[in-house]
Amino acid sequence: MTQLKNDTFLRALLKEPVEYTPIWMMRQAGRYLPEYRATRARAGSFMGLCTSPDYATEVTLQPLDRFPLDAAILFSDILTVPDAMGLGLYFAEGEGPKFQRPLRDEAAIRALAPADMGKLRYVFDAVASIRKALDGRVPLIGFSGSPFTLACYMVEGGGSDDFRHVKAMLYSRPELLHHILEANTQSVIAYLNAQIDAGAQAVQIFDTWGGALSHAAYREFSLAYMQRIVAGLKREADGRKVPVIVFTKGGGQWLEDIAAIGADCVGLDWTTDIGQARARVGAKVALQGNFDPNALFAEPAAIEREVARILASYGQGSGHVFNLGHGISQFADPAHAGALVDAVHRLSRGYHGAA
Ligand code: CP3
Repeated sequence: MTQLKNDTFLRALLKEPVEYTPIWMMRQAGRYLPEYRATRARAGSFMGLCTSPDYATEVTLQPLDRFPLDAAILFSDILTVPDAMGLGLYFAEGEGPKFQRPLRDEAAIRALAPADMGKLRYVFDAVASIRKALDGRVPLIGFSGSPFTLACYMVEGGGSDDFRHVKAMLYSRPELLHHILEANTQSVIAYLNAQIDAGAQAVQIFDTWGGALSHAAYREFSLAYMQRIVAGLKREADGRKVPVIVFTKGGGQWLEDIAAIGADCVGLDWTTDIGQARARVGAKVALQGNFDPNALFAEPAAIEREVARILASYGQGSGHVFNLGHGISQFADPAHAGALVDAVHRLSRGYHGAA
């Protein structure tokens, strides 16, 4: 395996000393980049990008060719897993993801089985192809959805404002939701371990909708399953630790619970003060975040002020991976993303090493 030329991201996740605060951006490969839109047009569709290792490699590298980011993230989607479980994923133009066969009746739920990893081979092939193309430039992040976030899409059949079907199930037929979550958990463990085998050097679990739950429901239906996943993952590959990042959007109130499940790093959305988060859980885990993605609509000078505020709030020392608090908007100006990366690298040097 090629030696990593820049391992700052991996060191920060393990709270080892770094020279500056590393940064990557959630959804860093995406529609805000004209070169992404051009490749997607050539591939014909978003799933055309995901299912072709060559296209997936090309778009994964696009943001790295523009900005000096400290990590690459596999280009794919969390919904490939329920698709492999037979739900029939499709993207209706301008409407986001949808499933042909959402889980609405008991018989369909009882028949649900963990995903066959053979159907996800295109993802593992993409991981291997991206690792090769990166040639050690920066580490590659693999990812999956959390069992609960996947279940939201599987039961609702697509995105939702109120999650009425999945919440009705949670409160009136909890055993059915647990059955789905069990199948998802087994799938995600196998899926992430296969990504690690194929070359992923860190993994992130996206729990986008866990924050929509009550605290009690969050612990029972989201966190408990993520804890099982963390316990089931390979934590070392090629003689190096494979750090695990857990990101529950809206989970700022529950940081102590989240930091206790055994992950190396907890992702924060922008509503939490990162300095306060560090005081609460910084001894246990590294923190990732937490720039408001919509602050990228402001001018570069304002972006830089906000970067300075977040870096000062985290304070001296390692254990911080800079990121957005959620995915970058398709309407963001790439030049502003560049200003963000530059400001993080420039301003963070003062927080590391001998003062
Ligand atoms: O971060 C990256 O650059 C890696 C790629 C990535 C995508 N989706 C590509 C994508 C990752 C990590 C995801 C995760 C994902 N997918 C999540 C969890 C993170 C989050 O954003 O909360 C969720 C909930 C999904 C499900 C999903 N996929 C939705 C809701 C949508 C539509 C939203 C939108 O922006 O239109 C997608 C489609 C999708 N996944 C796009 C991309 C680049 C846009 C597709 C396009 O090109 O039209």
